[in-house]
Amino acid sequence: MLELRNLSVHFDVSKRGKGKTIVRAVNGINLNIGRGEAVALVGESGSGKSTVGKAALRLVDTTDGHILLDGVDITHLERGRQMPLRRKAQMVFQDPHSALNPRMNILRSVAEPLILHTALRGQALTRRVIELLEIVGLQAQFLYRYQHELSGGQKQRVCIARAIALNPDLLVLDEPTSALDVSVQAQILEFLKTLQSDLGLTFLFISHNLAVVRYLCSRVAVMYLGRIVEEGATETVFTTPKHPYTQALLSAVPWPEATQPKGHAPLVGDIPSPVNPPSGCSFHTRCPFARERCRAEAPTWRALAPDHLVACHFAEDLAAS
Ligand SMILES: Nc1ncnc2c1ncn2[C@@H]1O[C@H](COP(=O)(O)OP(=O)(O)OP(=O)(O)O)[C@@H](O)[C@H]1O
Ligand SMILES: [Mg+2]
Repeated sequence: MLELRNLSVHFDVSKRGKGKTIVRAVNGINLNIGRGEAVALVGESGSGKSTVGKAALRLVDTTDGHILLDGVDITHLERGRQMPLRRKAQMVFQDPHSALNPRMNILRSVAEPLILHTALRGQALTRRVIELLEIVGLQAQFLYRYQHELSGGQKQRVCIARAIALNPDLLVLDEPTSALDVSVQAQILEFLKTLQSDLGLTFLFISHNLAVVRYLCSRVAVMYLGRIVEEGATETVFTTPKHPYTQALLSAVPWPEATQPKGHAPLVGDIPSPVNPPSGCSFHTRCPFARERCRAEAPTWRALAPDHLVACHFAEDLAAS
């Protein structure tokens, strides 16, 4: 469904007369998401997750590499020609409070993509909006309300209704529940899981929350400073993480006793700047196992098992120790 090949996204943030400053937000990542699959992208703040999601939907420009959606190369699709793409793929943003237009009522907000992309009007349009609200568990009484009259969870449901209005195949969900309180989070997640299995949607699910990822996604890719450092089946990666970074991320999560990966060192320090990423393996500055080779040479991406890939020179040694 979605194929990212050697994707890089760099932002030029140079100030005039001060030389070039390039933020290397995404650096040559490869990721394949099959139809109907739910794949998670995890990693610390600033690792490049949202940028990958936006690039996949052509909301930011790609510096290098290719993006294929359903086999079609959309890497350089111009803004004016993205209508078919918008039908196929949609994004749900982190903050539902700013994603809805305060001057539009819910009917108008959810109808907007339908007005832009279909011939539905009048009664038929309203009926379709009511249907969409029903799918996300909101009654028709919400049609004429405005976003400030809704709770955070209700707003996020409206955003999801709008995102699925055109029957997309792919949803990019960028921290869809992080602005919500815990009980509403659980409801929305439950609902997303049902939505995914009922409508056969493909998810790229971006999150800090590893427990949520484990619940919702069958595969996970771990990002660090613009690179994917480990990828595989969620259960495999979560129970036998091979990259020291994944191990550190997981050690911070309170799993039930039986599934807690054994005593890994927690993460220390902050993520380095993507303007000047460290040499060699970009994690070496924080890695408890870093050796000379890690400073000098970037690790290649390799398979430890058919569905478990890692970019660490010493993944096998670490696993054995
Ligand atoms: N439009 C932009 N211009 C310049 N730099 C940007 C832009 N968008 C993102 N960045 C930078 O790119 C890096 C990756 O940002 P991104 O938003 O993808 O991270 P993230 O993993 O989604 O983080 P978070 O978990 O905090 O949402 C950051 O250093 C960020 O400051
Ligand atoms: Mg983000």
